[in-house]
Amino acid sequence: MDNKLNLLIFSPTDTTAKTVRAIAHGINENFSEYNITLPDNRNSEIIFNENDVVIIGVPVYAGRVPALLSDYFTKIKGNHTLAIFVVVYGNRDYDDALLELKNIFEERGFMGIAAGAFIGEHSYTNKVGTGRPDQADLELARNFGIKIREKLTQLKDHPGTETAALAVKGNYPYKERTSMPPTKPETSDQCISCGICAENCPTGAIDMKDYSEVDAAKCIRCCSCVKKCPVDAKAYNHELVQKITQNLIEKFSMVRHEPELFI
Ligand SMILES: Cc1cc2nc3c(=O)[nH]c(=O)nc-3n(C[C@H](O)[C@H](O)[C@H](O)COP(=O)(O)O)c2cc1C
Repeated sequence: MDNKLNLLIFSPTDTTAKTVRAIAHGINENFSEYNITLPDNRNSEIIFNENDVVIIGVPVYAGRVPALLSDYFTKIKGNHTLAIFVVVYGNRDYDDALLELKNIFEERGFMGIAAGAFIGEHSYTNKVGTGRPDQADLELARNFGIKIREKLTQLKDHPGTETAALAVKGNYPYKERTSMPPTKPETSDQCISCGICAENCPTGAIDMKDYSEVDAAKCIRCCSCVKKCPVDAKAYNHELVQKITQNLIEKFSMVRHEPELFI
Protein backbone atom coordinates (compact mmCIF):
# COMPACT_ATOMS: atom_id res chain seq x y z
CA MET A 1 0.00 0.00 0.00
CA ASP A 2 1.38 3.41 -0.99
CA ASN A 3 -0.67 5.37 1.53
CA LYS A 4 0.50 5.87 5.09
CA LEU A 5 -2.03 4.44 7.55
CA ASN A 6 -2.82 6.44 10.71
CA LEU A 7 -5.19 5.80 13.59
CA LEU A 8 -6.83 8.61 15.53
CA ILE A 9 -8.48 7.13 18.60
CA PHE A 10 -10.38 8.36 21.64
CA SER A 11 -11.13 5.37 23.85
CA PRO A 12 -11.48 5.70 27.65
CA THR A 13 -12.38 2.03 28.22
CA ASP A 14 -10.41 0.60 25.26
CA THR A 15 -13.21 -0.97 23.18
CA THR A 16 -12.89 1.63 20.42
CA ALA A 17 -9.11 1.21 20.38
CA LYS A 18 -9.39 -2.60 20.03
CA THR A 19 -11.89 -2.26 17.19
CA VAL A 20 -9.93 0.36 15.26
CA ARG A 21 -6.68 -1.60 15.60
CA ALA A 22 -8.40 -4.74 14.25
CA ILE A 23 -9.59 -2.79 11.18
CA ALA A 24 -6.08 -1.38 10.75
CA HIS A 25 -4.52 -4.87 10.81
CA GLY A 26 -6.77 -5.80 7.89
CA ILE A 27 -5.47 -2.84 5.89
CA ASN A 28 -1.78 -2.89 6.71
CA GLU A 29 0.37 -4.20 9.55
CA ASN A 30 2.24 -0.88 9.67
CA PHE A 31 0.45 2.13 11.08
CA SER A 32 0.96 5.17 13.31
CA GLU A 33 -1.34 5.64 16.24
CA TYR A 34 -2.50 9.00 17.62
CA ASN A 35 -4.26 8.13 20.84
CA ILE A 36 -6.09 11.27 21.93
CA THR A 37 -7.69 9.77 25.04
CA LEU A 38 -5.46 11.60 27.53
CA PRO A 39 -5.58 15.40 27.81
CA ASP A 40 -1.85 15.82 27.15
CA ASN A 41 -2.33 14.16 23.77
CA ARG A 42 -4.98 16.65 22.72
CA ASN A 43 -2.82 19.77 22.73
CA SER A 44 -1.14 19.80 19.38
CA GLU A 45 -2.40 20.25 15.87
CA ILE A 46 -2.22 17.28 13.50
CA ILE A 47 -2.11 17.86 9.77
CA PHE A 48 -2.60 14.95 7.39
CA ASN A 49 -1.91 15.08 3.67
CA GLU A 50 -3.14 13.39 0.51
CA ASN A 51 -0.87 10.36 1.01
CA ASP A 52 -2.33 9.62 4.43
CA VAL A 53 -5.27 7.37 5.23
CA VAL A 54 -6.76 7.92 8.68
CA ILE A 55 -9.08 5.68 10.68
CA ILE A 56 -10.93 7.91 13.13
CA GLY A 57 -12.58 6.08 16.03
CA VAL A 58 -14.70 7.41 18.89
CA PRO A 59 -17.25 5.94 21.31
CA VAL A 60 -20.90 6.97 21.09
CA TYR A 61 -22.06 9.17 23.97
CA ALA A 62 -25.83 9.74 24.11
CA GLY A 63 -26.13 8.99 20.40
CA ARG A 64 -23.49 11.55 19.45
CA VAL A 65 -19.74 12.10 19.10
CA PRO A 66 -18.41 12.89 22.63
CA ALA A 67 -18.89 16.64 23.18
CA LEU A 68 -15.44 16.87 24.77
CA LEU A 69 -13.84 16.35 21.36
CA SER A 70 -15.56 19.20 19.50
CA ASP A 71 -12.91 21.79 20.33
CA TYR A 72 -9.99 19.44 19.81
CA PHE A 73 -11.18 18.30 16.38
CA THR A 74 -10.73 21.86 15.11
CA LYS A 75 -6.97 21.24 15.51
CA ILE A 76 -7.02 18.34 13.05
CA LYS A 77 -6.73 19.09 9.38
CA GLY A 78 -6.81 16.97 6.27
CA ASN A 79 -5.77 17.82 2.75
CA HIS A 80 -7.74 15.53 0.43
CA THR A 81 -7.02 12.87 3.06
CA LEU A 82 -8.86 9.57 2.79
CA ALA A 83 -10.66 8.59 5.99
CA ILE A 84 -12.52 5.70 7.60
CA PHE A 85 -15.02 6.68 10.28
CA VAL A 86 -15.69 4.32 13.17
CA VAL A 87 -18.05 4.64 16.12
CA VAL A 88 -18.31 2.08 18.91
CA TYR A 89 -21.50 1.94 20.98
CA GLY A 90 -22.68 -0.01 23.99
CA ASN A 91 -25.33 -2.20 22.32
CA ARG A 92 -28.14 0.36 22.69
CA ASP A 93 -27.89 2.50 19.50
CA TYR A 94 -25.46 4.81 17.77
CA ASP A 95 -28.19 7.21 16.58
CA ASP A 96 -26.50 10.10 14.72
CA ALA A 97 -22.91 9.66 15.92
CA LEU A 98 -21.53 8.15 12.73
CA LEU A 99 -23.08 10.80 10.50
CA GLU A 100 -21.82 13.50 12.87
CA LEU A 101 -18.27 12.09 12.85
CA LYS A 102 -18.29 11.92 9.04
CA ASN A 103 -19.61 15.49 8.72
CA ILE A 104 -17.06 16.90 11.19
CA PHE A 105 -14.13 15.42 9.29
CA GLU A 106 -15.43 15.91 5.77
CA GLU A 107 -15.66 19.63 6.60
CA ARG A 108 -12.01 19.50 7.67
CA GLY A 109 -10.44 18.23 4.44
CA PHE A 110 -11.07 14.48 4.76
CA MET A 111 -12.87 12.25 2.26
CA GLY A 112 -14.72 9.28 3.69
CA ILE A 113 -14.18 5.99 1.87
CA ALA A 114 -15.70 3.67 4.49
CA ALA A 115 -17.43 3.78 7.85
CA GLY A 116 -18.63 1.40 10.51
CA ALA A 117 -20.63 1.23 13.74
CA PHE A 118 -19.32 -1.47 16.07
CA ILE A 119 -20.34 -2.66 19.51
CA GLY A 120 -18.31 -2.46 22.72
CA GLU A 121 -19.13 -3.46 26.28
CA HIS A 122 -21.15 -0.64 27.77
CA SER A 123 -19.06 1.79 29.80
CA TYR A 124 -21.69 1.84 32.56
CA THR A 125 -22.06 -1.90 33.06
CA ASN A 126 -20.50 -5.19 32.01
CA LYS A 127 -24.01 -6.65 31.72
CA VAL A 128 -24.67 -4.87 28.40
CA GLY A 129 -22.55 -5.75 25.38
CA THR A 130 -20.60 -8.07 27.69
CA GLY A 131 -17.04 -8.74 26.55
CA ARG A 132 -17.41 -6.93 23.25
CA PRO A 133 -15.72 -6.46 20.90
CA ASP A 134 -15.45 -10.26 21.03
CA GLN A 135 -13.64 -12.63 18.68
CA ALA A 136 -16.41 -12.43 16.07
CA ASP A 137 -16.42 -8.61 16.17
CA LEU A 138 -12.66 -8.42 15.81
CA GLU A 139 -12.63 -10.86 12.91
CA LEU A 140 -15.37 -8.87 11.21
CA ALA A 141 -13.40 -5.68 11.81
CA ARG A 142 -10.26 -7.21 10.29
CA ASN A 143 -12.21 -8.40 7.24
CA PHE A 144 -13.64 -4.91 6.89
CA GLY A 145 -10.05 -3.68 6.83
CA ILE A 146 -9.25 -6.12 4.02
CA LYS A 147 -12.19 -4.74 1.99
CA ILE A 148 -10.92 -1.21 2.63
CA ARG A 149 -7.47 -2.21 1.40
CA GLU A 150 -9.09 -3.48 -1.83
CA LYS A 151 -10.95 -0.20 -2.19
CA LEU A 152 -7.70 1.73 -1.69
CA THR A 153 -6.07 -0.32 -4.45
CA GLN A 154 -9.00 0.41 -6.77
CA LEU A 155 -8.81 4.12 -5.99
CA LYS A 156 -5.11 4.11 -6.80
CA ASP A 157 -5.83 2.48 -10.16
CA HIS A 158 -8.75 4.84 -10.89
CA PRO A 159 -7.88 8.16 -9.20
CA GLY A 160 -10.74 10.62 -8.76
CA THR A 161 -13.43 8.01 -8.06
CA GLU A 162 -13.18 8.51 -4.28
CA THR A 163 -15.53 11.50 -4.44
CA ALA A 164 -18.54 9.16 -4.83
CA ALA A 165 -20.35 10.15 -1.64
CA LEU A 166 -20.20 7.75 1.28
CA ALA A 167 -23.66 7.29 2.77
CA VAL A 168 -24.02 6.35 6.45
CA LYS A 169 -26.98 5.96 8.79
CA GLY A 170 -28.03 8.95 10.89
CA ASN A 171 -30.15 12.11 10.86
CA TYR A 172 -29.45 15.80 10.75
CA PRO A 173 -30.30 17.83 12.85
CA TYR A 174 -28.59 15.42 15.21
CA LYS A 175 -30.18 13.98 18.33
CA GLU A 176 -30.20 16.64 21.08
CA ARG A 177 -27.44 16.18 23.62
CA THR A 178 -28.93 15.10 26.93
CA SER A 179 -27.84 17.20 29.86
CA MET A 180 -27.17 15.66 33.21
CA PRO A 181 -26.29 17.29 36.53
CA PRO A 182 -22.55 17.05 37.31
CA THR A 183 -21.79 13.67 38.86
CA LYS A 184 -18.58 11.94 39.82
CA PRO A 185 -17.50 8.48 40.90
CA GLU A 186 -17.20 7.64 44.58
CA THR A 187 -14.07 5.99 45.97
CA SER A 188 -14.41 3.17 48.51
CA ASP A 189 -12.03 2.11 51.31
CA GLN A 190 -10.76 -0.60 48.97
CA CYS A 191 -8.64 2.06 47.20
CA ILE A 192 -4.94 1.13 47.30
CA SER A 193 -3.79 4.54 45.98
CA CYS A 194 -2.14 3.04 42.91
CA GLY A 195 -3.09 6.12 40.84
CA ILE A 196 -4.18 4.15 37.75
CA CYS A 197 -7.50 6.04 37.75
CA ALA A 198 -5.88 9.48 37.75
CA GLU A 199 -3.22 8.54 35.16
CA ASN A 200 -5.93 7.33 32.77
CA CYS A 201 -8.59 9.99 33.29
CA PRO A 202 -9.30 11.60 29.88
CA THR A 203 -10.19 14.97 31.43
CA GLY A 204 -7.75 15.18 34.35
CA ALA A 205 -10.73 15.19 36.72
CA ILE A 206 -9.04 13.03 39.38
CA ASP A 207 -6.61 14.70 41.75
CA MET A 208 -3.05 13.44 41.25
CA LYS A 209 -2.35 13.34 45.01
CA ASP A 210 -5.70 12.39 46.52
CA TYR A 211 -7.34 9.94 44.12
CA SER A 212 -10.66 10.13 45.93
CA GLU A 213 -10.90 13.82 45.04
CA VAL A 214 -12.78 14.07 41.71
CA ASP A 215 -13.86 17.28 40.00
CA ALA A 216 -17.50 16.67 39.01
CA ALA A 217 -17.41 19.62 36.60
CA LYS A 218 -14.67 17.90 34.58
CA CYS A 219 -15.97 14.32 34.84
CA ILE A 220 -17.57 13.05 31.62
CA ARG A 221 -18.68 9.72 33.17
CA CYS A 222 -16.59 7.78 30.65
CA CYS A 223 -16.03 5.11 33.35
CA SER A 224 -12.33 4.71 32.61
CA CYS A 225 -11.57 4.93 36.35
CA VAL A 226 -14.32 2.46 37.23
CA LYS A 227 -13.25 -0.14 34.66
CA LYS A 228 -9.49 0.27 35.12
CA CYS A 229 -9.43 0.16 38.93
CA PRO A 230 -7.70 -3.12 39.88
CA VAL A 231 -9.63 -3.40 43.16
CA ASP A 232 -13.07 -2.08 42.06
CA ALA A 233 -12.79 0.93 44.36
CA LYS A 234 -14.50 3.42 42.01
CA ALA A 235 -18.24 3.46 41.29
CA TYR A 236 -20.96 5.87 40.23
CA ASN A 237 -23.41 5.65 43.08
CA HIS A 238 -25.42 8.65 41.91
CA GLU A 239 -29.11 7.74 41.75
CA LEU A 240 -29.52 8.97 38.17
CA VAL A 241 -26.59 6.93 36.83
CA GLN A 242 -27.89 3.87 38.69
CA LYS A 243 -31.33 4.36 37.12
CA ILE A 244 -29.92 4.73 33.58
CA THR A 245 -27.77 1.65 34.09
CA GLN A 246 -30.71 -0.42 35.34
CA ASN A 247 -32.78 0.67 32.37
CA LEU A 248 -29.96 -0.31 29.97
CA ILE A 249 -29.67 -3.73 31.58
CA GLU A 250 -33.43 -4.32 31.32
CA LYS A 251 -33.62 -3.33 27.66
CA PHE A 252 -30.29 -4.25 26.11
CA SER A 253 -28.61 -7.05 28.04
CA MET A 254 -30.52 -9.79 26.20
CA VAL A 255 -30.16 -8.50 22.63
CA ARG A 256 -27.10 -8.66 20.44
CA HIS A 257 -26.61 -5.90 17.90
CA GLU A 258 -24.21 -6.57 15.06
CA PRO A 259 -21.74 -4.14 13.46
CA GLU A 260 -23.01 -2.12 10.48
CA LEU A 261 -20.56 -1.39 7.70
CA PHE A 262 -20.66 1.25 4.97
CA ILE A 263 -18.27 1.00 2.04
C1 LIG B 1 -21.50 9.13 28.78
C2 LIG B 1 -21.75 7.89 27.97
C3 LIG B 1 -22.82 7.85 27.07
C4 LIG B 1 -23.05 6.70 26.32
N1 LIG B 1 -24.08 6.69 25.40
C5 LIG B 1 -24.30 5.58 24.66
C6 LIG B 1 -25.36 5.55 23.69
O1 LIG B 1 -26.02 6.53 23.40
N2 LIG B 1 -25.60 4.37 23.05
C7 LIG B 1 -24.88 3.24 23.31
O2 LIG B 1 -25.20 2.20 22.75
N3 LIG B 1 -23.82 3.27 24.18
C8 LIG B 1 -23.52 4.41 24.84
N4 LIG B 1 -22.45 4.45 25.71
C9 LIG B 1 -21.56 3.29 25.80
C10 LIG B 1 -20.29 3.45 24.97
O3 LIG B 1 -20.57 4.00 23.71
C11 LIG B 1 -19.63 2.09 24.76
O4 LIG B 1 -19.49 1.42 25.98
C12 LIG B 1 -18.28 2.17 24.09
O5 LIG B 1 -17.90 0.85 23.79
C13 LIG B 1 -17.21 2.83 24.96
O6 LIG B 1 -16.05 3.03 24.19
P1 LIG B 1 -14.56 3.03 24.83
O7 LIG B 1 -14.34 1.64 25.39
O8 LIG B 1 -13.68 3.26 23.66
O9 LIG B 1 -14.51 4.06 25.88
C14 LIG B 1 -22.20 5.58 26.47
C15 LIG B 1 -21.13 5.64 27.37
C16 LIG B 1 -20.91 6.77 28.11
C17 LIG B 1 -19.73 6.81 29.04
